[in-house]
Amino acid sequence: MALTDKHLALVGFMGAGKTTLGAEVARRIGRRFVDLDELVESNAERSIVELFAEGESRFRELEARAAEESLTWPQPLVVALGGGALADERTRGLLRERAVTVWLDRPLADCWERARGSDRPLARDKAEFERLYHERRSAYADVADATAHDADDAVLAAAGVHVERGAIHRLGNLVPGDGSAAALVSDPHVAGIHGMDAQLALGPRLAQTHELPHGEEAKTLHALDRLWQSLRIDRTGTIVALGGGCTTDAAGFAAATYLRGIAWTPVPTSLVAQVDAAIGGKTAVDLPQGKNLVGAFHWPDRTVIDPALLETLSDRQRREGLAEVVKTGLLAGEPLWELPDGELVRRCAAFKSAVCLRDPHDDGERKMLNLGHTFAHALETAAGYEGLTHGRAVALGLKAALKLSGRESREVDDLLQPKPVHVDRELAWQAMQRDKKVVRGELRLVLLGTRGPEWDVSVPSADVRSALDELIAG
Ligand SMILES: NC(=O)c1ccc[n+]([C@@H]2O[C@H](COP(=O)([O-])OP(=O)(O)OC[C@H]3O[C@@H](n4cnc5c(N)ncnc54)[C@H](O)[C@@H]3O)[C@@H](O)[C@H]2O)c1
Ligand SMILES: [Zn+2]
Repeated sequence: MALTDKHLALVGFMGAGKTTLGAEVARRIGRRFVDLDELVESNAERSIVELFAEGESRFRELEARAAEESLTWPQPLVVALGGGALADERTRGLLRERAVTVWLDRPLADCWERARGSDRPLARDKAEFERLYHERRSAYADVADATAHDADDAVLAAAGVHVERGAIHRLGNLVPGDGSAAALVSDPHVAGIHGMDAQLALGPRLAQTHELPHGEEAKTLHALDRLWQSLRIDRTGTIVALGGGCTTDAAGFAAATYLRGIAWTPVPTSLVAQVDAAIGGKTAVDLPQGKNLVGAFHWPDRTVIDPALLETLSDRQRREGLAEVVKTGLLAGEPLWELPDGELVRRCAAFKSAVCLRDPHDDGERKMLNLGHTFAHALETAAGYEGLTHGRAVALGLKAALKLSGRESREVDDLLQPKPVHVDRELAWQAMQRDKKVVRGELRLVLLGTRGPEWDVSVPSADVRSALDELIAG
């Protein structure tokens, strides 16, 4: 079952806050929220207190039936499961098969604070509450695919994204597939720095290694052809893509196509890849006619993000990634760029995960992730992809998008210091009009409205042209 078709099941003790968090996560990833206790009550037309009065076993029976009803629902849901629901074997089986199960692990004191004084039958006696809290921990640990402390963690789990400092040393366990064979794909530079750690961690699962060329060269049909021909794993195998966005885009496309599609796990190593490229299942290679023109949607089974890997990035590569971080922060309406590395990556990755889960195939709001990018791509095309990095082009594009949104661009100016580029004005304008975002001659842009991002906003050509002109020097 594809990860994006699975339910997100929240388990945890009474008073852990599953209902509040579940409703928030459901809103963020665009799904319906089902609280199992409420479903039991509405099915039985009785309150939990009344049902318990008839004996706990009667309640457990109705609970198991409600669990089955929600976990076999055809559309993926967010389901909060009451503390004792896991005792049922069939419920545990459905969770394993049809859900990503997340344990909302909260300290005993917090749970007791929230649950005491409620009318919950099992929250009347503190000593009994405490005993049950400890007793059930192993049941949660057994079924859970991930542990969450807040809504961002739960969103990440729904998208299959695992963020952990030092995760590279646990790859053998973190790459899904029950110990099946793994092909490790990276670029020569990243292989030299982090390749050995990944190989050691994959241990006996490592079937082969493959090096793609540097940078965008990896995203060519020639490089793909070499990768396809070198692969020695069967359909149960996994491609592990260790590297920046070029590596994850190309290796992900190989995974989407080899043997009509096999599993893959990106292990992004650049800031661009950790906050953006390795999330959301878009994979692609370039054609001479343009970037990302051949590709596929192929959601990874898991994305393993180790923020410690960023420590070996050069300042220049970091700045590249910072442009996408600023983009994400502007879209989220929060200064995410001010956070320390680990938290910055976790929050940005959660933002992108939520947008992509709401719109996995880019039919609508996922377009917001293109903020500043129509301008950026036009400048990159006019520069012939030389002498102008994507990060610098995005910084300029964000400035133009903010201007057209009627906003100041102080953050972009301070953090990214975009300098106008020397490119041919006419070429840039032509590229802008050839962009995928042109509908019947009108340019559709992503702008930041007063209530957040808006996409497909049609903007008069003359305004777009003058905003573009300001980005060009001379
Ligand atoms: N699929 C998507 O949704 C998506 C989103 C954004 C960008 N992208 C793609 O991502 C690509 C750009 O990604 P990128 O900037 O990561 O490029 P990249 O893969 O070329 O990496 C940039 C450079 O950083 C080096 N590097 C990576 N990790 C390192 C580390 N930990 N230490 C030292 N050096 C390291 C690489 O060797 C390379 O030289 C573009 O092709 C873009 O189209 C895809
Ligand atoms: Zn970008």
